[in-house]
Amino acid sequence: MNRFTGRRVLVTGAGSGIGQATALRILAEGGSVAAADIAEAGLEKTRALAAEAGTDERLSRTVLDIADEDSVRARVDAAVEHLGGLDVLVNAAGILDSRHTGAMTLEFWNRIIGVNLTGTFLVTRQALPALLATGKGVVVNFSSTSASFAHPYMAAYAASKGGIQSFTHAIAAEYGKQGLRAVCVAPGSIDSGMTRAPGLPRDADPDLFTKLVPALGEGFAGPETVAGAIAMLASEDGAFITGTELRIDGGTHM
Ligand SMILES: NC(=O)c1ccc[n+]([C@@H]2O[C@H](COP(=O)([O-])OP(=O)(O)OC[C@H]3O[C@@H](n4cnc5c(N)ncnc54)[C@H](O)[C@@H]3O)[C@@H](O)[C@H]2O)c1
Repeated sequence: MNRFTGRRVLVTGAGSGIGQATALRILAEGGSVAAADIAEAGLEKTRALAAEAGTDERLSRTVLDIADEDSVRARVDAAVEHLGGLDVLVNAAGILDSRHTGAMTLEFWNRIIGVNLTGTFLVTRQALPALLATGKGVVVNFSSTSASFAHPYMAAYAASKGGIQSFTHAIAAEYGKQGLRAVCVAPGSIDSGMTRAPGLPRDADPDLFTKLVPALGEGFAGPETVAGAIAMLASEDGAFITGTELRIDGGTHM
């Protein structure tokens, strides 16, 4: 499939996990990708993987902190200029950390909300003029099964992801007549840096995550399972899908 030939895509969180798998998938389907992440080493790994696949000539890299307004302004503009415009934004960057809610400091709360929710807003706002200029831009945001199915110790993370869902619906309604589509993926039970180190409190059940058993397969799935769904949503195959979530968790939550 070459659903992204001639299409220009910015992927945040592209140095690891689902963002990295999505960048590689879009490159494999013919797209040009600006891979953005706070972690330079992760972006280098993405470049090496793209080189192995022979797609690195359509890959550019940018180090940015999605929670920093100045960083977002400068780096998103530079990435879009390098791409020559923007057809798709994939807001995969995010963090997970866990605490008893009663022990959450304001600093802890603001850090999770600041990266996940405010970061998604900042990058989207900066990319919006370029996305609207195409007349059929697409934003893929990252919710989580935890936005709808509760896990202990993750009140800040769950609230950030619920906020991202609401934000996505709002921009889908606001810009739909200008051709913009905005959708969320809500992954769960995906093996990544995040789920291997969820930062659980010391007295928490250490097997909390491994007890989340998908109905499909043998356990947690790889990030590429989410990347395939994102490629569908962001391509013309998803042309009439907007303002909604797609849960991708192998049936862990039903
Ligand atoms: N893995 C799962 O089961 C799961 C479930 C639900 C939602 N998600 C969501 O999927 C997305 C991708 O996560 P993942 O599982 O691939 O985890 P991951 O930790 O492997 O990848 C997250 C990436 O985001 C980057 N990042 C973090 N803070 C950043 C910042 N301020 N600016 C720029 N980049 C930053 C990290 O460096 C990392 O490369 C996240 O939004 C996460 O909340 C994952």
